Amino acid sequence: MLVFFGKKTEIKHSIIPAPLHISLKENCFHLKKLTLFCEDSLVGSNISLILPYISQKTGLSFEVVNDVSYAQILLLPTDSVTHESYTIDIHAHIDIIAGSAAGFQYALYTLSGLIQRTPSGYAVPCGHIHDNPTYAWRGLHIDVARHFFDISVLFSLVEDIAYYKLNTLHLHLTDDQGWRFESLLYPKLHTVGAYRDETVVGKNFLPFSSFYIGDKKKYGSYYTQADLRRLDQFARDRGVQIVPEIDIPGHATAALVAYPEYSAGAAPDKVATYWGVFDNLFSPNQQSVLFLKNIVRELGTVFSSPYIHIGGDEVPTQKYKDDNESQRLLSEGKIKQIDEIPNYILEEVAKDMSTYGKKAVLWDEAQDVSLNQGGVSMIWRDMTHAKDVLEKGGTVILTLASHMYFDYYQKIDPKEPLAIGGFLPIEQVYSFKAPFHEKGTVLGIQANLWTEYISTPEHMKYMLFPRLLALSEVAWGTNDSLVDFMTRTKTHNII
Ligand code: ACM
Repeated sequence: MLVFFGKKTEIKHSIIPAPLHISLKENCFHLKKLTLFCEDSLVGSNISLILPYISQKTGLSFEVVNDVSYAQILLLPTDSVTHESYTIDIHAHIDIIAGSAAGFQYALYTLSGLIQRTPSGYAVPCGHIHDNPTYAWRGLHIDVARHFFDISVLFSLVEDIAYYKLNTLHLHLTDDQGWRFESLLYPKLHTVGAYRDETVVGKNFLPFSSFYIGDKKKYGSYYTQADLRRLDQFARDRGVQIVPEIDIPGHATAALVAYPEYSAGAAPDKVATYWGVFDNLFSPNQQSVLFLKNIVRELGTVFSSPYIHIGGDEVPTQKYKDDNESQRLLSEGKIKQIDEIPNYILEEVAKDMSTYGKKAVLWDEAQDVSLNQGGVSMIWRDMTHAKDVLEKGGTVILTLASHMYFDYYQKIDPKEPLAIGGFLPIEQVYSFKAPFHEKGTVLGIQANLWTEYISTPEHMKYMLFPRLLALSEVAWGTNDSLVDFMTRTKTHNII
């Protein structure tokens, strides 16, 4: 039974990200729990998956019912709205119109930001919301190579990011310090490459100090394909794509310890135990490129996203200068200078990916590969690289160190846990406005969490929240008022 109150109510909400259009009335209705009915039973069962999460967040129970006459919320599927958009009408009952399970989920997350606790239960203001994301890719990257996080942590992260209407979890699965993907084709990648002898303590390594201190504790683990498939499905059910990354041809120490035959020049003999940029690189020879194509293909069989990230960042090319195969490619005219070797390798892999329907995402150093292969350039260094790609008609995802590197310090306070450096307060995240460019496409916005100095789920959450709330509003395209946003973060989920 809904009871309307005609008296004046302060109309406020704590929805994050703020909806595109919202108008709330002074009257509201009061309720004890929310019952939903959906005409489409498939959508209804998908929605049921997220209700426990919303209930846990809000303290309010939601239930899907089979009889429309018992329902307070009607979910009305339509073909005539875009994928993630929705409208909510709150009057004598709540009508939600959306075109996909993701749209309905977003509507319910929004609704949970409208609910307020009253002495006798809960209240929802009447009104109308029409909402639609500005950017198609709204992402969070997490580096699981420097530190490994149990698969259960990733499941929980998917639920949390979906609640803020982010739709992409980018898993940085490989780096110098560890390989985290179980490979049935090349099992030494995980049986050997997933483990390092120890981890540097603090910042006691070159070039920051003249000495090295390790913790003498063997460290490592990897995700099984079965676990990653379960994660992929769980994420899909919540409108989130998992985009895996295998970082090549640099950041490859762990892989090259496992398979030294694919190294350009001498292979490393130890998975890295400290941080930085290493010069252990994949060779551009045919066997090595085939190995890379095969492992990326294998990755593509586990994850359903049309995108695979193949890295391309921070490749010092000195080893290629001394490498016979690289010199041969130069003399045959396949490349014009040795510095093109990383892109030569990446282009071979990206071309192969397009034969089985996957699109390559690459860090901005490899922007030419993205442009040539119809891929996506992930911009991290600065906006000049974004402008360059956009000017050439390419597609970018913006994950700029200046606004979206959540491994940076968020406060200037000696009590802050050790971080990589930098300074990125929440206000700076919130201030970001992407450029519009008529030639190219800004596909999306993403925060990156590199984990050299983050080894526990608690610390991970501390670095993500509340900055991820600001990122979600930037990615939704409604980051128009810092004051209003900061107020909402204070009342958010405290109903
Ligand atoms: C990066 O931060 N190396 C992409």
